[in-house]
Amino acid sequence: MSGMDLSVKIGKLELPYPTLMASGCYGSGEEFEAFADLSKIGAVVLKSVTREPRLGNPMPRLVPTPAGLLNAIGLQNPGIDWYLEHEVAKFAQRPCAVIGSVAAFSVDDYAYVTQRLAARDEIAAIELNISCPNVGSEGETFACDPALTGKVVRAVRAVTGKTLIVKLSPNVTDIAAIAAEAESAGADALAVINTLRGMSIDVHAWKPRLGNLTGGLSGPAIRPVAVLAVYEAARAVSIPIVGQGGIETASDALEFFLAGASAIAIGTANFTDPRIPEKIVNELGAYLEARGLRSLRDIVGKANVGFGTPFQYEGDVG
Ligand SMILES: Cc1cc2nc3c(=O)[nH]c(=O)nc-3n(C[C@H](O)[C@H](O)[C@H](O)COP(=O)(O)O)c2cc1C
Repeated sequence: MSGMDLSVKIGKLELPYPTLMASGCYGSGEEFEAFADLSKIGAVVLKSVTREPRLGNPMPRLVPTPAGLLNAIGLQNPGIDWYLEHEVAKFAQRPCAVIGSVAAFSVDDYAYVTQRLAARDEIAAIELNISCPNVGSEGETFACDPALTGKVVRAVRAVTGKTLIVKLSPNVTDIAAIAAEAESAGADALAVINTLRGMSIDVHAWKPRLGNLTGGLSGPAIRPVAVLAVYEAARAVSIPIVGQGGIETASDALEFFLAGASAIAIGTANFTDPRIPEKIVNELGAYLEARGLRSLRDIVGKANVGFGTPFQYEGDVG
C-alpha cells in the first residue's frame, strides 16, 4: 500500500490522513493513546467549548439503541477561560492536528469564543458547532436557518483566518441551501452531519430513558441519512466536506467519499473499538491500490460515474 496518497487539504489545513475523530467522541486524544497510534489519524476534533462553563444535562445521558447511540450530554465543558488556562497547552503534545470546536447561543458568543481559541497555536483549525440537538431548541437554531447560518459564519470568519469548518444539522428540510449559505459566508469546509434528534421510552416506567427526554442519535442507524446529506451538500458547494455519521469500516467511509466528502470523521465507533480509524486508513489504501488508483481525490464525488463491469442480468429475470 506504499505510495498511496490519502492526504487531504481542508482550507489551509493539510492532513496526512482523511480521518478526523468526531467532536465529543475522542476527548483530546489523551485517553486513546494507550490503544491507538494517533500519528495514523488525520486530526482530533475536540469536545465543543462554550463561553461559560456548563454542567450538561441530567443523567442518564447515553442510551444504546438497536443500531445506534442516543446521547444528550448537553455540551458539558469547563468554559473558555478555564479551557485556555488549563487544557489547551497539552494539545501541543499530540502527534496529530487538533481542531477546536466552538458552541454558543448567540452570534457574539460564537465570535468571542472562536477568536480566543483560534488565537492559540495548539489549535490548527476551528469547527463551528451550530447544530447541537441536546441543548433545547437554541442549539440547532443556527444550522436550521440559512440566514442565521450565514450571519454566524460571517461573524466568525471576521475574527479568524484559521481554517473554519461549519458543522451542519441533518434535522432540516433543505441541507443544500444551508450548505451554500455557509460557503458564501466564508466557511472553508463543512462537517456533515451532526446527530439526528431522537427519543427512547421505558415502557415499564412510562418515562423517557434520557434525563433530557430527547437526544441526538449517532452510529450506523444514521449512516444512510448522512450519506444523502453529504451527497446533497456536495452538489451545492465547492468547499470540502467532512462526512460523518455511523462510519465503522472502510466500506462505510468509501460511501461518504463517493457521495462527495473529501474527509470523514469517526465518532461513536471509537467507543467500541479505538483501532477502527487506523484499520480504515489501511483498508482505504488497499482499496485504491486494488483499483490502480493513487489518490483518494480520484474517487471523491464519483458516485454517479460507475466503475468496473456493470451488473449484467443472466438468464430469465422475468
Ligand atoms: C457522546 C457524544 C458527544 C458528542 N458531542 C459533540 C460535541 O460536543 N460537538 C459536536 O459538534 N458534535 C458532538 N457529537 C456528534 C459527533 O461529533 C458526530 O458528528 C455524530 O455523532 C455522528 O458521527 P458518528 O455516528 O460517527 O458518531 C457527539 C456525539 C456523541 C455520540
